[in-house]
Amino acid sequence: MKLLLKNIQIVNPAQSLNQRKDILISNGTIAEIGQIDEKGCDQVIEGNSLICAPGLFDMHVHLREPGREDEETVQTGCNSAAAGGFTGVACMPNTSPAIDNAEVVSSILEKAKNHLVEVIPIGAVSVGREGESLAPIAELYTAGARAFSDDGVAVKSASLLRNALEYLQMYNAPVIEHCEDESLADGAMNESEVSTLLGLPSVPSVAEDLIVMRDILMAEYTGGKVHIAHISSKRAVEIVREAKAKGINVTAEVTPHHFTLTDDSLKSYDTNFKMNPPLRKAADVEAIIEGLIDGTIDCIASDHAPHSIEEKEMEFIYAPNGILGLETELGLALSELVHKNRLTIEQLIEKLAINPRKILNIPVPKIEKGVEANLSIFDPDLVWTVEVSKFKSKSRNSPFNNRLLTGKSVAVINKGKLYYQNQYHSL
Ligand code: DOR
Repeated sequence: MKLLLKNIQIVNPAQSLNQRKDILISNGTIAEIGQIDEKGCDQVIEGNSLICAPGLFDMHVHLREPGREDEETVQTGCNSAAAGGFTGVACMPNTSPAIDNAEVVSSILEKAKNHLVEVIPIGAVSVGREGESLAPIAELYTAGARAFSDDGVAVKSASLLRNALEYLQMYNAPVIEHCEDESLADGAMNESEVSTLLGLPSVPSVAEDLIVMRDILMAEYTGGKVHIAHISSKRAVEIVREAKAKGINVTAEVTPHHFTLTDDSLKSYDTNFKMNPPLRKAADVEAIIEGLIDGTIDCIASDHAPHSIEEKEMEFIYAPNGILGLETELGLALSELVHKNRLTIEQLIEKLAINPRKILNIPVPKIEKGVEANLSIFDPDLVWTVEVSKFKSKSRNSPFNNRLLTGKSVAVINKGKLYYQNQYHSL
């Protein structure tokens, strides 16, 4: 099978590539890059308006398997990722049972084996994510986990975090931290004048800042690697910036909803705006965008969190936290960051494809002759309307339904497979 990407803009900042050429993919391998004749090719994708980047990678998704297969499965989550333009995801361990033993890691890897999308399981830091004893890190790493987190909650104690950070240096693997001080976390939204207006219990942003600070101090003390998940507060961005300037081993990610929305959206009481960390103020959004621009925030990750319609339709305080992300992430990032001249396309590709893999210490795909094709192809200028009913995810909880976006995935290629025009093709 010979697939030709004709006259496509190839962009990979990791190889200092930004050039318009043809790419020939033969049996899943990049056979040639240059000026290539269409003759003898089985399929041609006209690249005139398209960008070809290394396969995008989302390092923070919830695939819900095992335990909540009614909300998402490894298969439907991977379908959602492919539709959103991703060739890889890392999945969080707040499943039931948690990803705290080798069997769960192996079962997820087995389910993802034949899918175009690569799945990297994130192991729990503590047994059952309960914060008492360290999970079997070596067993989890050997089985295929490449990062560790108790996501949904922060690692419960500084001593447990210390043990994890010391242990994980053996593998150069990070602790991915959900930063929220438990004693302040009893609320359904951000603490602000909006929470007072709505009469909803709230969580102050200092709950996030405290754990960001604690974890950075522990990273400094142990020399371990801390990755701050879904950063959402202005102060947290400042703390990470200062820590990086000191040379402390810390990285950070942000979700598209946290650089796009504020807690004003909650005035609708629509639970599709309820997530953790909660949406915050315009000043926080501005600080996050500054952090993306100056590199304080290394990557963009969706925190794709499928929930059933019945649960999301509960009263605001009882509805679960979380929204879908994989199928709107690229469009939101292009619309809000690139088209508003905040990030260049190269910076965006760093944050969506290169940095997540560097943080997880896994190989970054190259675009060069002889390597297996691992590519994301997107149209940065395609204008489209989000239609949640058409999502490949099993769930529907997105606040972005009907939103007009500029920029959309067109195809992804990985593991000898192509996803194009809603179908999987073997290469
Ligand atoms: O909004 C969220 N949803 N935040 C989390 O920390 C967990 C996630 C989930 O699993 O639904």
